[in-house]
Amino acid sequence: MVLRNALDLIGNTPVVALDNITGNIEGRIFAKLEFWAPGLSKKDRVALQVIEDAEKSGRLKPGQPVVELTSGNMGTGLAIVCKLKGYKFIAVISKGNSIERAKMMKAFGAEVVLVDQMPDSIPGQVSGKDLELVEIEAQRLTKELNAFRVDQFCNPSTSRAGEIGVANEIIQQIDERIDAFVDFMGTGGSFIGVTTALKKHFPDIKCFGVEPENARRYSNPQDIGSGKHKIQGGGYNMELPLMTEDKLKLVDGFITVSDEEAIQAARRLACEECIFAGFSAGANLAAALKLLKVDFKGKNIVILLPDSGTKYLSTDLW
Ligand SMILES: Cc1ncc(COP(=O)(O)O)c(C=O)c1O
Repeated sequence: MVLRNALDLIGNTPVVALDNITGNIEGRIFAKLEFWAPGLSKKDRVALQVIEDAEKSGRLKPGQPVVELTSGNMGTGLAIVCKLKGYKFIAVISKGNSIERAKMMKAFGAEVVLVDQMPDSIPGQVSGKDLELVEIEAQRLTKELNAFRVDQFCNPSTSRAGEIGVANEIIQQIDERIDAFVDFMGTGGSFIGVTTALKKHFPDIKCFGVEPENARRYSNPQDIGSGKHKIQGGGYNMELPLMTEDKLKLVDGFITVSDEEAIQAARRLACEECIFAGFSAGANLAAALKLLKVDFKGKNIVILLPDSGTKYLSTDLW
C-alpha cells in the first residue's frame, strides 16, 4: 500500500512485550511505541487531532498561522501537520530543551522562537517558571499574528487523541488482560485520555500518573519538590487544567521516579530490548517495574514510550 503522505504514518503504533527486561519477574510489561511516527514522538497524533478538530469547528481558518508553546515534541508534530496541511507554524520553546528538538522543527519548515530560561534555571531542566516565560511570548505572538493558539495544556483535543486513538489501539492490539496503565504526565493529556477509555473497557484496571521525584505536585501536594529534574516533556510541578475533578477520580495513584531511575530504565530499553527511547519512556518503565515488584506481581502493565532516544543524543542519557 502506498501512503498519501507522512500524515498517514501517524497513529497505529506497535506494541512490544518487554520480556527481556521483565525476565524472571512475574508479570509482563507491554510498551506502546508512540515514537513510531514521522516526528518520532507521541505528539504527532496529538497535533493531528488538535488541527483537525480546530478545522472542523472553524476555530482554525484556511491559511491562518498556528502558534504553540512546546517542549519540542508537540512543536515537531505541529510542524509536520501544518506543513502538510498548508499552515505556517511558529513554535515557542525554552532554551532549556535539547537542541535536537529545535533543529527538527526547523527542518520541517517551522519558525522557532527560543526563549531564555530564568537566571537560576539549568539548561536541560525546564522548570514551571521557565514555561511561564515561554507562555508570555506565545501569547504575544498569537495576538500579533492573529494566529490560532493550540494551547495544548487546556485544549481537550489533547486528551481526545489518547482516548479515541491510543486507547482503542491498545484494546485491539493486546489480547491479554490489562491490569494497569502508567504514564508520565506533561499536559496529562495522554494519561487522562487513555485512562478514560481504558476504564470504560476494563472496569478493574488501575491507572497511575508518573511524576519526577523532584516535581511531585500530584503525588505529594504538601511538599512538591524543587521542580528541577531531567525528564523532558513533563513534570512541570503545576496544576494541570486537563486534570479536572472528575478525571482525578479516575486516577488510582501517582508514582514518582528519580532522574537516575528514568535514565537507567531508558538504558535498559536500549541495551536489553534494542528499543531506543527517551527519558520519559525510562520513567514509565521504571514506574511499571516498581508496580510489578510489589503490588502488581504477576500482572500485565501497559506503558507508553513517548519519544525516541535520538532526541537526546546531546544529553547525558547516552
Ligand atoms: C517526551 C515526552 N514525554 C512525555 C510527555 C507528556 O505527555 P502529555 O503531554 O500527554 O502528558 C511529553 C509531552 O510533550 C513529551 O514530549
